[in-house]
Amino acid sequence: MVALAAAGVLTAALPAAAQRPLASIDAQTGVDANPYTSDEDVAVGEELYASRCSVCHGPEGRGDRGPDLTRQVYRHGNSDRAIFMNILSGIPNTGMPSVRLSDKEMWQIVAYVRSLRAPAEMAETGDADAGRALYARHDCGRCHFVDGEGGRLGPELSTIGWSRSPVHLRASIVDPGGDIEDDYRQVRVVGADGSPTVGVLLNEDSYSIQLLDMAGRLRSFMKSDIDEIERPQVSLMPSFAGRLDDPELDALVAYLSSLRRR
Ligand code: HEC
Ligand code: HEC
Repeated sequence: MVALAAAGVLTAALPAAAQRPLASIDAQTGVDANPYTSDEDVAVGEELYASRCSVCHGPEGRGDRGPDLTRQVYRHGNSDRAIFMNILSGIPNTGMPSVRLSDKEMWQIVAYVRSLRAPAEMAETGDADAGRALYARHDCGRCHFVDGEGGRLGPELSTIGWSRSPVHLRASIVDPGGDIEDDYRQVRVVGADGSPTVGVLLNEDSYSIQLLDMAGRLRSFMKSDIDEIERPQVSLMPSFAGRLDDPELDALVAYLSSLRRR
């Protein structure tokens, strides 16, 4: 009790941002095991999950832009406490936000996440080795970096199996424009002579703009020297819809899902 009272005093003295970690008593006092695991807790957790998590992790936890949670093997920690802390604090630089609810509600979500199991018929069926060969044949490495080699026009994929679900991976390949990564926005700089340079935006301020062009070269322009900057809302990644049949797509998705460097 003394420790909690002291935390209360601290809370009053600190600015709002510094107070944040103190808001969860269970995080503070190091509660390890989930105190809320009854069937009712799981049911409440399911509702909270539907409103706060399913947009990224899919309606049954099968994943979308966020990873599949039904595998019960988690990169950022398997314990109840680790899952609780990931919900409370988010995971920096990954797109996993901090979702602030009461301690009890967060534990109820943990109980629901723990109950998730993928139906057997949803098991991944693709051949990852065949997928690796397809990745090479279609020259995905021109734009993507995997395990020490590749280009930088698109996001690095070395750990993509952890962070994205098969559903999202498949969509990324057949419909790249559907969900464009913020750090990989396309820009088209038109020079004073009308010649365009297309690439991914790296930096921009009032006077200049830097991009990585399609050949992977760093290009820098003074805004006073150029005619126009266009920002097409389409991905730089070509769509592979129609260029891969279903088994090939399954194989490629299985290969990408297997990329789980620690
Ligand atoms: C805006 C999208 C988004 C929302 C909303 C979201 N997540 Fe996430 N979550 C992600 C992403 C992306 C990751 C992948 C982190 C990485 O790259 O390893 C992730 C990771 C996780 C992980 C860690 C997985 C692992 O392998 O360790 C857990 C657990 C998790 N989320 C649970 C939740 C829960 C529960 C909620 C709702 C309270 C939630 N997430 C809301 C996007 C989201
Ligand atoms: C001309 C460059 C280019 C080529 C070739 C290319 N990509 Fe991409 N890729 C991108 C860019 C840029 C993005 C990010 C913008 C977006 O999300 O569409 C991206 C996004 C992705 C994503 C989503 C990553 C995430 O974090 O969600 C996946 C998966 C992917 N590519 C796989 C592939 C595969 C597999 C191939 C080969 C079949 C391929 N790419 C070929 C440029 C490319």
